[in-house]
Amino acid sequence: MNTDNYYVTTPIYYVNDKPHIGHAYTTVLADVLARYHRSLGQSTFFLTGTDEHGQKVEKAAALRHMDNKAHCDETVVRFKELWQRLGITNDRFIRTTDEFHVKVVSEVLQELFDRDEIYKAEYTGWYCVGDERFFTEKDLVDGKCPECGRDVQEIRESNYFFRMGKYRDWLVDYIKTHPDFILPTFRANETLGFLKKELGDLCISRPKSRLAWGIELPFDRDYVCYVWFDALINYISGVGYKQNDDEFNRWWPASCHLIGKDILTTHSVYWPTMLKAMNVPMPRTIFAHGWWLTGNTKMSKSLGNVVNPMDMIDRCGVDAFRYFLMAEMSPGNDANFSEDGFVARYNSDLANDLGNLLSRVLKLTLRNRGGVIPQPGAFGDDEKELMAAVDNASPVMENSLASMKLDQGINAVMNAVRAANRYLEKTAPWSLAKQPDGAARLDTVLYCAAEALRQVSTLLLPVMPEKMAELRESLGFSPDEAKSAQIAELKSGAAGLAGRTMRDNNGLFPRIQTEEKSASAPARKVEKTVAPVDLIEIADFAKVKLVTAKIVSAEKAENSDKLLKLELDVAGSPRHIVSGIAEWYAPADLVGKTIVLVSNLKPAEIRGNRSEGMLLAAKKGKTLRLVTVDGDIPSGAIVG
Ligand code: ME8
Ligand code: MG
Repeated sequence: MNTDNYYVTTPIYYVNDKPHIGHAYTTVLADVLARYHRSLGQSTFFLTGTDEHGQKVEKAAALRHMDNKAHCDETVVRFKELWQRLGITNDRFIRTTDEFHVKVVSEVLQELFDRDEIYKAEYTGWYCVGDERFFTEKDLVDGKCPECGRDVQEIRESNYFFRMGKYRDWLVDYIKTHPDFILPTFRANETLGFLKKELGDLCISRPKSRLAWGIELPFDRDYVCYVWFDALINYISGVGYKQNDDEFNRWWPASCHLIGKDILTTHSVYWPTMLKAMNVPMPRTIFAHGWWLTGNTKMSKSLGNVVNPMDMIDRCGVDAFRYFLMAEMSPGNDANFSEDGFVARYNSDLANDLGNLLSRVLKLTLRNRGGVIPQPGAFGDDEKELMAAVDNASPVMENSLASMKLDQGINAVMNAVRAANRYLEKTAPWSLAKQPDGAARLDTVLYCAAEALRQVSTLLLPVMPEKMAELRESLGFSPDEAKSAQIAELKSGAAGLAGRTMRDNNGLFPRIQTEEKSASAPARKVEKTVAPVDLIEIADFAKVKLVTAKIVSAEKAENSDKLLKLELDVAGSPRHIVSGIAEWYAPADLVGKTIVLVSNLKPAEIRGNRSEGMLLAAKKGKTLRLVTVDGDIPSGAIVG
């Protein structure tokens, strides 16, 4: 059993669509954790992958008139390309359609069936395709899915069940006696709240007549396995379960299952009871992070407010994006994603603080010491104070890993950077250089500032692997030394700094001009290294039904300055939408206009108002104009 090694997982993502910033966040967070644990000298395994079975994926494939597997093969590439682009260092990428995984799931099913942990029964329930979950009548809220509020379908059929209910008392006790099992603690309490109700058995099959896209039950060929039962097993099949005992014992139990709060119940109730029935030890920690929001609503495809990570990376570079994700979100809580927030943090932390520190040290050393980092003299109070701030960062960072407060660890490192900038202001090496007796002191100051940079770059290497390696090359390290620096060797590395020759660079983090940012002027444009993935097929476009719509009435939405409620006429039928255009249009100016509507967008609840579609508008900088048609045409006309 694994007691020393670090094993981290991400959820395996559905391949129903391309990844967005939420997926990127979890995967970058896992990558940063994996890189930190490696940097601390720990053996580490990092698993991510894709969830390819089930109704959701089958539906996505059907919409594209594609074979299920062919659809998966195509979509999985988008995830793999994004992870490559983001510098993700997963040790394995698992797909639930991989043969070895299918075999393990099948063996688990057979074993549990043989031991009567799985039985057959008649069943009536309500199914939410979006969440791939069954609910009973009393679970529903106003007849809708209690998790996401979408419509549910009634289903009545014979199915196989896992005896989950009998583990309720055990699970309650386990959660109470293992305070690190579900984190943050308020999520453990949420799970305990859920377990206060009766815990039913879990339906783990689907008749092939209704859904064929799944792993066949080995004891009844008319059924396939429920997608969550199949998916959760990836965490063990991906590290050798029922294939290689040595490998499995090396990594299991997992140190950390990273998930978003949307999938807490499946991980904190289904998965532990499944493991218990299989006689497999529990993972050490299930950590549920919060959501990225835009304007206080969850980023989601149906609201059309998703941020495409590839666009962000093109515009600001991989490492600035990774840094922002890690520094901005406190892992248990929600965080808001906005371009202004991004630019503000980039400019203050990366351009003003860190970038500026390097460029000062670089210029001073090149000008006064021919680029060679000098040997320091004795340390006075200022040096001691600076080194204390720098030395403090590493234990804070280590603690922040254990407590999953990475933003605080990063902040401690940034405090060391700020201390170094203050140190330079106080010791004023630019004037020391001009004083006849300032030479020895200048040596010490240049050395100490460079040493601060050396330590900071080691501590931030897991967050910004490329930029910190670049910084270290500026400090005179070879490319290999630059990218392989280890926190475990932070102290012993100090001896190697003096005598190195610094190398100029073009500015690590050029400031983003705020006036230009909305015209999408990036820091430095990063060359695309992979083929563009955003080209779509005509069939993809055909999914979007655009029609003309006439605005019948418009009014401001209550409790929002940005939103207008519009009543539209589409070929004689009324439609209601909510749109964030109040800044640009007064309600009275809109009535009578013929606009273009995305008519098959799933209805959404925006600030308590139902919105049945989305209008099209063009936006650049502070200007927004509605897309209208060139001349008279009735409403309901197809646009395309
Ligand atoms: O649930 N903010 O896959 P999925 C932060 N296949 N994180 C977000 C996010 C947001 N707005 N949106 C998504 C599934 N995520 C199952 C998992 S695991 C055995 C099976 C992240 O494609 C977050 O990690 O819907 C969330 O839990 C995950 O993507 C859901 O991805
Ligand atoms: Mg989801």
